[in-house]
Amino acid sequence: VTVPTGEPLAEIGVIGGSGFYAFLDDVTEITVDTPYGPPSDALFLGEVAGRRVAFLPRHGRGHHLTPARINYRANLWALRSVGVRQVLGPCAVGGLRPEYGPGTLLVPDQLVDRTRSRVGTYFDGETRPDGQRSRVVHVSLADPYCPAGRRVALDAARGRDWDAVDGGTMCVIEGPRFSTRAESRWHAAQGWSVVGMTGHPEAALARELELCYTSLALVTDLDAGAEAGEGVSHAEVLEVFGRNVGRLRDVLFDVVGRLPERRDCLCASALAGQDPGIALP
Ligand code: ADE
Repeated sequence: VTVPTGEPLAEIGVIGGSGFYAFLDDVTEITVDTPYGPPSDALFLGEVAGRRVAFLPRHGRGHHLTPARINYRANLWALRSVGVRQVLGPCAVGGLRPEYGPGTLLVPDQLVDRTRSRVGTYFDGETRPDGQRSRVVHVSLADPYCPAGRRVALDAARGRDWDAVDGGTMCVIEGPRFSTRAESRWHAAQGWSVVGMTGHPEAALARELELCYTSLALVTDLDAGAEAGEGVSHAEVLEVFGRNVGRLRDVLFDVVGRLPERRDCLCASALAGQDPGIALP
């Protein structure tokens, strides 16, 4: 099915992370194409707490996309094109401090981009395959996450006795390899809290589309510099994420139910006064 742009099939989007391939029980699956190519997978539409939700597995079903191969532009464009305005981005991360061990949930308030190969903007001045050409626009990413979404995420987690960490900096590495011990120690010494591979450019692109974006970072391991053992393995990441996915899903359900219906945050007007040249879906 190709969905006509702008038809509001969903208002809230959830982009599932490693080990998170299904969110809703009773879903309608739709295929959405975008001017940037196809998203990671179909969108799974359903309802939670009376709110229409679109779920998208970030790495695709079966986890076939590495963090660098994910088409982040297509993913966020697809979500917006079905009506989504608020996005929740659960993801697996490594802890950079001993006190952020496996099972910690952290709702970051800052981001550091240490990736190198990803397209991080819609507004590159290039002509798209459909002939539309964007202008060059600069959005603020001083505060990369939606303050309203962060508040709701923290409240929802605590409401389920999960003492989520309020704030912290997510360092995003290129991957797919994990950090060396020296890199990891360096990231920790900067005061950064957790390390992941997908937080950028997801948050930046969401902002360019004037979407609210909230990251929920689930620590699956202590990163190499914060522990004395062998270092991280992908199996460990998937195993710990799998063990926590039920509880994370419960929290996300609660978050969906609590997100404000009217957006009063600045995310909704990130482009105010600037003409991106291309029409947002
Ligand atoms: N995702 C989960 N654990 C990670 C780690 N230690 N480094 C980067 N990304 C991760």
